Amino acid sequence: MHWTDIDAVVGLERELFPDDAWSPASLWAELAARPRRTYVVDEDDEGAVAGYAGVDLGGEVADVMTMAVASRAQGGGLGRRLLEELVARAAADHAAYLMLEVRADNLPARKLYESRGFELLTVRRRYYQPGNVDAHVMRLTLQGATA
Ligand SMILES: CC(C)(COP(=O)(O)OP(=O)(O)OC[C@H]1O[C@@H](n2cnc3c(N)ncnc32)[C@H](O)[C@@H]1OP(=O)(O)O)[C@@H](O)C(=O)NCCC(=O)NCCS
Repeated sequence: MHWTDIDAVVGLERELFPDDAWSPASLWAELAARPRRTYVVDEDDEGAVAGYAGVDLGGEVADVMTMAVASRAQGGGLGRRLLEELVARAAADHAAYLMLEVRADNLPARKLYESRGFELLTVRRRYYQPGNVDAHVMRLTLQGATA
């Protein structure tokens, strides 16, 4: 992801996360936090951003910061490819675990993560506000893990 993608990503944030969309300022800050933070975008045939994802690296535990696919592009395997890219970057950084938080009511995302081997670690009750929605904290064990 480059700074020239920020407008398109903010548009998708507002479409896909209406309650807590990231602002342009927060995306600028995320891009400035390279190489610890690393973000990717996927463009469709017209060069428009179809999906994006980011991961926080730098230690034993890597964290998925965000992941999203435009509504028009969902269901075609792009989410799985973006997740695989984050897993590869975490593994290349020698992380032992890749963690994420997902809304309990987000069944498509939970299915994606479970099918990739993420396990439910804990539930944070009423974590997402407004709405009192639980967060599922999930963890994927990478090859570098010792236990
Ligand atoms: C979650 C999301 C990233 C998945 O991206 P996608 O490109 O639609 O997903 P894919 O086509 O790669 O599907 C991968 C897997 O996800 C799961 N999945 C995707 N859509 C699903 C749906 N509507 N219902 C149930 N499972 C679904 C399936 O396990 C699927 O594997 P399969 O095709 O072998 O059954 C996408 O729906 C999205 O951006 N949603 C809105 C934003 C969001 O919730 N981001 C995640 C925040 S934690």
